[in-house]
Amino acid sequence: MVNTNAQKFVLVTGGAGYIGTHTCIELLAAGYQPVVVDNLCNSREISLDRVAAISGVKIPFYSLDVGNAEALREVFSRYDFVGVLHFAGLKAVGESVTQPLRYYQNNVAATLVLAQVMQECGVERLIFSSSATVYGDPASVPISEDFPTSTTNPYGASKLMVEDILRDVCKVPNSGWKVCLLRYFNPVGAHISGLIGEDPSGTPNNLMPYVSQVAVGKLKQLGVFGDDYDTIDGTGVRDYIHVVDLAIGHVKALDKLMTEQPCCLTYNLGTGSGYSVLQMVKAFEQAAGVCVPYKVMPRRAGDIAQCYADPVMARDELGWTAELGLERMVADSWRWQSNNPKGYE
Ligand code: NAD
Ligand code: UD1
Repeated sequence: MVNTNAQKFVLVTGGAGYIGTHTCIELLAAGYQPVVVDNLCNSREISLDRVAAISGVKIPFYSLDVGNAEALREVFSRYDFVGVLHFAGLKAVGESVTQPLRYYQNNVAATLVLAQVMQECGVERLIFSSSATVYGDPASVPISEDFPTSTTNPYGASKLMVEDILRDVCKVPNSGWKVCLLRYFNPVGAHISGLIGEDPSGTPNNLMPYVSQVAVGKLKQLGVFGDDYDTIDGTGVRDYIHVVDLAIGHVKALDKLMTEQPCCLTYNLGTGSGYSVLQMVKAFEQAAGVCVPYKVMPRRAGDIAQCYADPVMARDELGWTAELGLERMVADSWRWQSNNPKGYE
């Protein structure tokens, strides 16, 4: 059978990272040909060897910083890209508070460079990794795309700034840009092979990698940040989404941009269901068959009680719905962590 998607090269910035690697696999499965650029500031090249082991395809890789226009131009000159998936970014909220200039430089200034090079090269399809953090402390749940936006830290501000910049770029009369801003809720889980997954450097900030590292014996116990929220059991509620579902959401978004007129689209990528910290811990213990000791601690500054998506717009316009439930999220996280107790090391 003729592959109608042949030669559909897609640039994946940050493609060696957690969400990027999973998305490369789904792009290949859909007939796209990813090309990865990554400066490896929060990843290792071995992750792409693992992607090759899973998919049978060795993805072209260029070790470069997205803020380096010359290096980017060189890559753009080699391929006829149909679009760009822009994952490259720094993502630690606490670090962004102590290193704001680094976060704005890397997440905002480097994105400007990428967009300028894209424009020069006539590549005007872009999918941007935004975050539910742009909703700040929402007045109610579920959160739909028309909720007001606000931020409380430089990481969140960097996401909102890039959203604003890209919206402005699309407003230019006769603009050819086709942009999709994807607001992720809480990505967890790993590829079912257990070969790729989340590999945070240092002590994890996020719940799932922390729980996994306690379960595997790398950390002693989980601190539960507050049990006095107005939620089902007092602990924080979030919309955890399997990273493979998230990856497929990107393919659906790219498919849409392939046929769309110039536009700037915004979608939540979440499941629409919320789970508490203690529900996550319990589900993980059941999947892993191990105990995850925890201690209730004070609330973490900046945390909100609950956050989950209204995922209807992505369903209606992208034809995308998250399929993988809580059991798969925790089972796949555990398979990755137990097969790779030291991550990619
Ligand atoms: P990750 O750190 O695993 O992947 C990001 C990749 O980008 C890394 O491989 C890193 O080396 C690379 N990178 C960073 N800055 C770069 C630069 N200037 N040039 C080239 N490469 C660079 O993170 P992830 O979890 O895969 O997140 C991907 C994107 O999704 C990020 O933009 C993040 O802010 C966003 N996001 C993530 C989450 C989450 O919980 N994981 C939630 C919402 C949004
Ligand atoms: C955090 C960031 C958010 C970012 C997202 C994805 C903050 C305040 N928010 O979201 O901006 O987009 O990660 O990177 O950092 N928890 C514990 N113990 C832990 C870790 C977490 O109890 O050791 C709780 C939290 O209080 C929260 C839930 O688990 O209720 C999820 O936390 P986390 O995984 O850090 O995600 P978010 O706070 O939703």
